[in-house]
Amino acid sequence: MGKASAIYLYGPPASGKTTLGARLARALRRDFIDLDAEIERRTGRHIPDIFRDDGEAAFRAIESSTLRDVAAGQGSSAIVALGGGTLLDPANRALAESTGRVWRLEPPSPEELARRIALRPGSRPLGDKSRERAVHYASFPRAIAATFDLDDSLVVIGSGLGALCGFAKMAVADATAASLHPSALADIPTFTIPSGEDKKRVETVCSIWNACHGNAVTRRDRILAFGGGVTGDMTGFAAATWMRGIDWVNIPTTLLSMVDASTGGKTGFDLQEGKNLVGAFHPPALVLIDTDYLSTLPPRELASGQAEMIKHEIISGKLRPSVAGIPTAGEIAANLAVKVDVVRQDPHETKGMRMLLNCGHTIGHAIEAASGYALSHGEAVAIGCVEEARIAVRLGLASADWPEMLAARFSAASLPVAAPQFDRATVAAFMAADKKRDGDGIVFALPCGWGDVRRVTLRLGEIA
Ligand SMILES: NC(=O)c1ccc[n+]([C@@H]2O[C@H](COP(=O)([O-])OP(=O)(O)OC[C@H]3O[C@@H](n4cnc5c(N)ncnc54)[C@H](O)[C@@H]3O)[C@@H](O)[C@H]2O)c1
Ligand SMILES: [Zn+2]
Repeated sequence: MGKASAIYLYGPPASGKTTLGARLARALRRDFIDLDAEIERRTGRHIPDIFRDDGEAAFRAIESSTLRDVAAGQGSSAIVALGGGTLLDPANRALAESTGRVWRLEPPSPEELARRIALRPGSRPLGDKSRERAVHYASFPRAIAATFDLDDSLVVIGSGLGALCGFAKMAVADATAASLHPSALADIPTFTIPSGEDKKRVETVCSIWNACHGNAVTRRDRILAFGGGVTGDMTGFAAATWMRGIDWVNIPTTLLSMVDASTGGKTGFDLQEGKNLVGAFHPPALVLIDTDYLSTLPPRELASGQAEMIKHEIISGKLRPSVAGIPTAGEIAANLAVKVDVVRQDPHETKGMRMLLNCGHTIGHAIEAASGYALSHGEAVAIGCVEEARIAVRLGLASADWPEMLAARFSAASLPVAAPQFDRATVAAFMAADKKRDGDGIVFALPCGWGDVRRVTLRLGEIA
């Protein structure tokens, strides 16, 4: 990580190599080279014409010599989008793997791929090769499953992504995540912060500022967060404020931070008086969501992330086939898309849409606090969603079997759905103190059914 070597993007024709390459180059401040465009520039001919007039063998010879020149020249530290079959030639593959790292782009669905190819008739002389070359593409272990472009943030989801982060001046790492994944930060000066929500406070942020100073981080540099939501929130806030704001890259290492905290631009820390009371909107330039890090996550942390994924399922009405085990990159991408969609419509939480993401959280936060944080955030959200679903039934907004349906979904992900010590008076007191108050009322994003979350303001008396 950090060393300048080429980043090669590879995959079937129309898998999006050129679009992503240009966008990634902007995020990483590197040059971008599109191998096909380079071939056309050098030969002064269109690639379909070379295929038609001279045949594929002649094209491959030009392609190999262009790759050699690119790898030896300005491409050695650039993002390079390869052709769909460039690395079928073992010599080309050896060259790419010795001068940089190769990321394979997962093709979109067959229908989407066919649609993209059809959009530019004649431009893809070999058509859809993704099935025929499936084994070849699968032999590249680093994969990009999906990407999102959200305001100034590029979100990349896949595996083996760590080496993409390049050019950060300094990493801020959660102690536990860093010790479990030492190779991820091998090439970058790393400031380690202690793990835990109780460390999400101004003293730790101050230590990050001091580390920025110690590592001579300037206005033009970027820093990198490596850890869960606690690390991302504080590192993002340090980046928002250091030298009045510098770029940052976020590598979330918990499921919760992958599907929720990493994206949307909120940064900050806790005060004694309450969670997340100080903060700023400062989206990371790049978010790298790498499912490899999930293998070391304790089951309770995994379940906590599942709770936020189920919350997104409630909002969208799109359910995964199963909630057991570690989700795939594709499942994470589909789930995160729900949050991305909401944030796109309401980036600074001024239009009411972003409020939907608080589904289950009004009661959830109160239960979490009332338990003295013995319940994890995800556990409290699971219980909160089911309790809020019961309110929806009482208000005539949901069918009678809805709370049990929801409870079954959370239980399948090993989450609790009832707090035996649920003391309504204490929970109500915490709700009354919550920042989601609106005059005398308390604002809810009430789960009323799959794909049906409604903003409702209730008085305390109407809740119990
Ligand atoms: N910014 C936002 O929009 C947003 C959204 C939701 C939540 N959050 C914040 O995120 C925080 C919760 O995030 P979290 O659940 O990731 O908490 P966390 O950062 O405390 O991580 C949870 C635990 O997992 C450990 N850990 C991290 N990566 C690991 C790995 N790969 N393997 C094993 N252990 C690992 C950590 O050391 C920690 O003990 C809260 O502070 C919350 O306020 C922010
Ligand atoms: Zn949450």
